[in-house]
Amino acid sequence: MIDWGRLVAPGIRQLRPYRPGITEERLQRERGLSRIFKFSSNETPVEPSPAIAAAMAEALRKANRYPDAHALLERLSAKLQVPAQGLMLGNGSIDLIESVVRTFVAPGCNVVLSEYGYCAYPPLVTAQGGEVRVAASSGGFGHQVDRILASIDDNTRMVIVDSPSNLAGASLALAELDRLVHALPPRVILLLDEAYIEFADIDPTHTAALPLAFPNVIVARTFSKAYGLAGMRVGYAIADPDLASWVQRLRPPFPVGRVAMAGALAALDDTTHLQGVVQAARRGREQLATGLRELGVKVLANEGNFVLADFGDNGRRVYEGLLAQGLITRAMEAYGLPQQLRISIGAPHEVARLVEAVRELLQQPTGRAEKLQRSEA
Ligand SMILES: Cc1ncc(COP(=O)(O)O)c(C=O)c1O
Repeated sequence: MIDWGRLVAPGIRQLRPYRPGITEERLQRERGLSRIFKFSSNETPVEPSPAIAAAMAEALRKANRYPDAHALLERLSAKLQVPAQGLMLGNGSIDLIESVVRTFVAPGCNVVLSEYGYCAYPPLVTAQGGEVRVAASSGGFGHQVDRILASIDDNTRMVIVDSPSNLAGASLALAELDRLVHALPPRVILLLDEAYIEFADIDPTHTAALPLAFPNVIVARTFSKAYGLAGMRVGYAIADPDLASWVQRLRPPFPVGRVAMAGALAALDDTTHLQGVVQAARRGREQLATGLRELGVKVLANEGNFVLADFGDNGRRVYEGLLAQGLITRAMEAYGLPQQLRISIGAPHEVARLVEAVRELLQQPTGRAEKLQRSEA
């Protein structure tokens, strides 16, 4: 038998597969539950608007033809006021983040990540044979610009920062971001991952313009969160056109499908839908945070469509207890935080149901829930 592990590229051999949040389908298969509520992957609970659904249905009719990205690129370029040549589309923003890392990171380079930055970044760097450098967070899981800057040396090729962050919804204040951008050596790329920007109290036009003034800044964004198209897999990056031309060399042909691009284009035009999703997420964030705080659970202020909640020693017990009832949250063990659960904002009745289930679990004697079957995050 061939030992494939010995033949695998050294950077890849060290990796563990990414464990995504449990899907509704999987929980149904494995536990035979019929009613499932998903709070684990920071999607929006709102279905595509009629205009978005109609645009996708129309695109389906031409599914026999490869897609053309021109219309979406031009629309994004006009909306963001950036040249279309600096825009890249991906199969979700993670596809583009990976391509940027693959383009620039090689053995001998290091990449500076923030301690509680998105856990999908380190494997991308390791796969390239690059070294991951971690800049410690402040209390509250925020990014620390001074520590990021202090971690940079002659071999640093890139800094990756998610703002708001995947774990805690922590945003880098614009003044801090500007300080980082000005202090970075121009040869060090800043990959600014703004998957949740639409939910934050930050003017998105400011950061979209950064790559024009600072060619070493790349901004990655997605249609998966506030635009409500996680199932379609569309993301985009804004970059200096020359830098983008290097990344384009390794991009596959036609990375985003026709239906997905039609959905994204319609979602850009449907500002009522976007505003509805954002407002619902903000209200839901408040509903969930208040409900949990009333139960004595610690919840940090946050700028995403989710909350990070500290259940102390009850973290695993609450996670398992919720899962047994078909309520999927995200355990944060990948971040070394077993006491924390990240809970995406659902519809108001879903949030109410979750808070009620947490209340019951916290009232139960500890032994009972511990007998529940352990399952992965
Ligand atoms: C911070 C952050 N960046 C990137 C992504 C990837 O999003 P997508 O590939 O769906 O655009 C996620 C997904 O949860 C995220 O939280």
